[in-house]
Amino acid sequence: MTDLREDPRFKGIEPFDGKVWLSSPSMHGDEQRWVDEALQTNWVTTAGSNINEVERQIAEYIGMKYAVGLSTGTAALHMATKLAGERLYGQARPNEGTLSGRRVFCSDLTFDATINPVAYEDGEAVFIDTEYDTWNMDPVALERAFEIYPDVRLVVVAHLYGTPCRMREIREICDAHGALIIEDAAESLGAKYRPEDEWRETGALGDYNCISFNGNKIITGSGGGMFITDSKEDADKVRKWSTQSREAAPWYQHEEIGYNYRMSNVIAGVIRGQIPYLREHIEQKKAIYERYKKGLADLPVMMNPFDRENSEPNFWLSCLLIDSEALAPQVRGEQEVLWNHEPGKSSPTEILDAIKAFGGEGRPIWKPMHMQPIYRINPFVTVEGNGRGRTNAYIKGSGIDVGADIFRRGLCLPSDNKMTEEQQDRIIEIIHRCFL
Ligand SMILES: Cc1ncc(COP(=O)(O)O)c(C=O)c1O
Repeated sequence: MTDLREDPRFKGIEPFDGKVWLSSPSMHGDEQRWVDEALQTNWVTTAGSNINEVERQIAEYIGMKYAVGLSTGTAALHMATKLAGERLYGQARPNEGTLSGRRVFCSDLTFDATINPVAYEDGEAVFIDTEYDTWNMDPVALERAFEIYPDVRLVVVAHLYGTPCRMREIREICDAHGALIIEDAAESLGAKYRPEDEWRETGALGDYNCISFNGNKIITGSGGGMFITDSKEDADKVRKWSTQSREAAPWYQHEEIGYNYRMSNVIAGVIRGQIPYLREHIEQKKAIYERYKKGLADLPVMMNPFDRENSEPNFWLSCLLIDSEALAPQVRGEQEVLWNHEPGKSSPTEILDAIKAFGGEGRPIWKPMHMQPIYRINPFVTVEGNGRGRTNAYIKGSGIDVGADIFRRGLCLPSDNKMTEEQQDRIIEIIHRCFL
C-alpha cells in the first residue's frame, strides 16, 4: 500500500506529534492516593476499603442496591449468565453449563465478551439483527425470533458505543414471553435511558446487569468489572462464586464450582480515583461527538444515532456511517482488506488508513457476531425472520442484514477525551480529503 501521506489529496496535512488514540485512560492524580493507601495498609488482595468504597459508590450512582467488584466485565457477564441459567433451568452438574441445550437471544453488533459467556455455560447464542436507529438489538427482529424459537427464556443485550438500546420495547417483548434480560452496560456507564416516566442509568435496566472498567472504557481501573443488582441473594451468590465458592468450613470445602473472578483492591484504588471524573469524561466525549457532527455535516455521512427523546448516551465512541451512494469499493477478507479510491466517495477502510497514516487511531465497527467464524453456524434472526440461508443463485439480493451493512459502511473515529480541538479538526480535514 502506498504511503497516504504522499498522496496529493493530503498535501499540507502534518502528522500528529504523538498518537491520537481511539479511547485511552485519563488519570487525574487521585488514583495514586488510593493505590498507595492499599499498598501502605497491605490490603494487596481481593478485599479492602477500595473495593468496598467503589462497590458502594457505583451502586449509588447507578441507583441499585448492590454492586459486586470483579476482575473484568467479562467475568461479570459470566456470573450474570450463570445466575440466569440456574434460575431458569436449575443447578447444573459440575462438568456442565447451566445453559446446556438451551438457546439464548443475543445482541449481534457487539464485542464478543457480551455473548461468549453463553458458550461458557454450554448454551447456543441466537443472534438478533440490529436496528439503524440506535445500532443496537432490533425489537422487531427479537419478536420474529420468539416466533421461531418460542421456548427461549433469556436475552442478552448490549448498549453499543455507549448508546442505550431500545430497552422499553425489548422489556415488553421479554415480559410477554416470560424471558429474563442480561444487560451489558460495559460501554455505557453513565448513559441514561427513560423506560417509563423516569430516567434510569444503564446498568439498572436488566434482570442482571454488568459494567466494565477495561482500559479503554469511560472510566478505568486498567481492568475490572462489576455485577449490579437489587437482589441480595444474587449479589451474595456472585461474591461466593467469584472467590472459588468456599463454604463456611475451617478447610477448603466446595459444594459448587468456583471462579477466581474477584476485583483486586489495588485496581479498585484506580477506579476509586476515577469515579469523581465520570461526568467530566462524558461531557468531553459529548463535545467530541458534537464537533465531529458539525465538522462532517457537509459530507455524505452520518454520526452514530441515538433516541434523543428517551436516551442520553455517554458518547464513549464517536462513529460515522457513509451513505450507500458514497461508498467506494472495498473488499474485506478474513484478515485483510483492499480498497479503491473513487472521486467523491470513500470507504471506512480508506478513512481508517488515512487517519492512521497521520498518527490517529480509529477502528472498524465491531464485526457482527453472526459473521464471526466461530459463530457462523449459530442462528441469526432479522426483521424478515431466519437470516441464514437467504441467498439463492436464481434470485437477486441477499435479504436484510443491518449489522453487516453498518460494519460495511461504518467506522469508529478517534474519540480520546484528551484529543485537542486542533487535533480533531485535523482528523475532520483528513476525512474530507478522503472524499476528494
Ligand atoms: C460490550 C462489551 N461487553 C463486554 C466487555 C468486556 O469487558 P472487560 O474487557 O472488562 O472484560 C467489553 C469490553 O471490553 C465490551 O465492549
